[in-house]
Amino acid sequence: MRRIRVRIDSLVRDPTGRPGIHLSCPTGARPAPGQCALAVLPGQAQPARTALFPTRLDPQGFTADLPEGADWPPGADLDVLTPVGNGFSPPPSARRWLLAAVGVPPGRLLPLIDRGLARGAAVVLCAAARPAGLPAAVEVVLNASEAVAWADFLAADLAPEGVPNLRRQLLGADQPTLQLPRAAQVLVTPPMPCGLGVCGACAVNGRRRWQLACLDGPVFDLHTLDE
Ligand code: FES
Repeated sequence: MRRIRVRIDSLVRDPTGRPGIHLSCPTGARPAPGQCALAVLPGQAQPARTALFPTRLDPQGFTADLPEGADWPPGADLDVLTPVGNGFSPPPSARRWLLAAVGVPPGRLLPLIDRGLARGAAVVLCAAARPAGLPAAVEVVLNASEAVAWADFLAADLAPEGVPNLRRQLLGADQPTLQLPRAAQVLVTPPMPCGLGVCGACAVNGRRRWQLACLDGPVFDLHTLDE
C-alpha cells in the first residue's frame, strides 16, 4: 500500500448509470477488483477517508463511483492510500463464475468480468438490470439462486448489514437445500476511515472472530462469515 496523490481527470457515468470519477493512477497503485483506494481531499481538518472501489480499470487509472455528498471537481487532487486490502482471488481452475450484487449496484463486480472472460470462464452476473456495455457473452440473472448450483466460483457484493444471514440474503429464504460453491468470496464495505487497522470502525463480525475490512478484507471468504 502506498500513499500518493492522484488526480480526478474527469466526471463519468459508470456502466450502471451512476455518477463516477476517473482517477489517473500509476499501474502499481491501482486497486484490483475488490480492493479500494482510500481518499481524502488534501488539507482536510478531519481526514476520515472515503473508499473508492474500481468499477472499471484501464491503463491510465480507474473509474469509481462518486461518493455521496463529495464535492470533488475534475482537476482536484486526492490524497489516497492505495491499494487497500485483499481483492477477489478466483481459483485458477474455476470456469463458471457467478458475480452476485445483492442489494447494491453491480459496479464493483464489473472489473472481474474481463478477468473471467480472459481466463476462458463463463460469467453470469446477478443484478437488477443489465449494465451498459456488458459483453454479450455475459448472461444476467435476477436471482443468484438461478445460477448458484452451476457456479464453481461465487463473487458477491453485499451491503454490510446483509452479513448476518448472508446465505439468506444471497439465495432467499426458500432455498434451504442450495449449496454455495466452495470458492465463494464476498465484498463487504463498511466505512474505512483510517485504512490502517487503527480505528476499528471497519470491524466485521465473522463466524469465529471480528475481522477488519481494511486488513482482513474487504473481500472475505464467504464461508468465514456465513452462519
Ligand atoms: S479503517 Fe480503521 S481499522 Fe479499518
